[in-house]
Amino acid sequence: RYKAVIFDLDGVITDTARYHYLAWKRLAASQGVHFDEAFNEHLKGIDRMGSLDLILASAPRAYTPEEKLALADSKNAHYVELISTMSPADLLPGAVEALDACRAAGLKVGLASVSKNAFAVLDMLGIAGKFDYVVDAARIARGKPDPEIFLKAASELGVSPADCLGVEDAVAGVASIKSAGMTALGIGDPAVLAQADRVIAGLDHFALADY
Ligand code: BG6
Ligand code: MG
Repeated sequence: RYKAVIFDLDGVITDTARYHYLAWKRLAASQGVHFDEAFNEHLKGIDRMGSLDLILASAPRAYTPEEKLALADSKNAHYVELISTMSPADLLPGAVEALDACRAAGLKVGLASVSKNAFAVLDMLGIAGKFDYVVDAARIARGKPDPEIFLKAASELGVSPADCLGVEDAVAGVASIKSAGMTALGIGDPAVLAQADRVIAGLDHFALADY
């Protein structure tokens, strides 16, 4: 029933959500901001500067744009260091099988991640060749929950949004998929991803025929 499946990367295909969390936690601590897993949930799927703004909103002082850029760069340097040893062993269970099942069913396969590290991560995981189109986050004006990134993927794949299934672990990501007019498959907790059409625990439960 679909013509394309568009996947998020962080937290869906590989557990980089953990590394983003660790890098933001250290950055927050350096600025005297409390940071925990619950707050981190709001940052999933949110782009780098948007995440920084959310963290600094509870900082004791204001920041200049230059200071913000320096903090974002330092978080990213830490993140890049944390992911530097990634390999195909870091693929989440069922990820390759899900990508291959979509292709075998004749569907286009896209990637819609707002991460500017997405191309590097796909290379380290050894799966760059499994996508028909990967959105370049540097060319997206509005991050999730705006629908722009999923709409861009659909149009580049030559498929109408109504014929797309989007796969996401983040609340903001599911919102992006739904406002793009696509069906949303959530990865994670159904109570958290309440806006998704279906939720599964991980891609090891992915069954295309069910959605
Ligand atoms: C998303 C992550 O995929 O990418 C966010 O869920 C992250 O946590 C965002 O902030 C941007 O990533 P990057 O690599 O460009 O800083
Ligand atoms: Mg994600």
